[in-house]
Amino acid sequence: MRKKIVAGNWKMNKTHEEGLKLATEIVNMVKDEVRNDAQLVICPSFVSLQGIAKLLDSRVSIGAQNCNSKASGAYTGEVSVEMLKAIDVKYVILGHSERREYFKETNLELAEKVNIVLKNGLIPIFCCGETLKQREKGIHIEFVNSQLTESLFHLSDDEFRKVVIAYEPIWAIGTGVTASTAQAQEMHEKIRKHLISKYGKTAEETSILYGGSCKPDNAKELFACKDVDGGLIGGASLKSRDFVDIIKSF
Ligand code: PGA
Repeated sequence: MRKKIVAGNWKMNKTHEEGLKLATEIVNMVKDEVRNDAQLVICPSFVSLQGIAKLLDSRVSIGAQNCNSKASGAYTGEVSVEMLKAIDVKYVILGHSERREYFKETNLELAEKVNIVLKNGLIPIFCCGETLKQREKGIHIEFVNSQLTESLFHLSDDEFRKVVIAYEPIWAIGTGVTASTAQAQEMHEKIRKHLISKYGKTAEETSILYGGSCKPDNAKELFACKDVDGGLIGGASLKSRDFVDIIKSF
């Protein structure tokens, strides 16, 4: 059975106090309202990880939005996986399109980040996705496949088993334009096929999340797609009611 996951990517939003309030609301609502067995993940900024981690329980885990590819050393301003592990962080989002675009993260560097995250026993949520231009040119599938190949295909079967994928078409992130269910299912199926070509049956169990303007009113039909195993939620994860309603969509 593929694990169902809904992860909230808070990006650079919420002060520590605001984050504690939001996380508390989410945990309480989940306790009272959510009957499905989806794993929930909250990914606040680095400064709030430790405080929020203390509020969470087995239903709701904590994730970081990034980490450095090196174990430690003279990398001013950076955060290591060991530091994240020490405060009970379970997941790390890697290769979000905003990090690829604004911080020039490459597939090769992301391969190193994937390695160090796995080595420390954390779970990478590896993001992939194409621009609108690439989709219009008809090279979106090839492009996404190359992101997966270059950052993940060096992993052993056992390592790959722990990876979660998030397909996030860049044209749908924060734009209010969601991929149609047909577009989402098509891409998730192609991604799974590509992963199966390398990892066989193991990839049939890989959770592939959809991200990009996923909201309470479209989550149900997206999550109903055969190869969509949950969501990576940006804007709608900043409101407890919306985030919990998305979780309830399974
Ligand atoms: P969005 O962001 O839900 O605001 O479109 C998704 C993401 O960037 O992970």
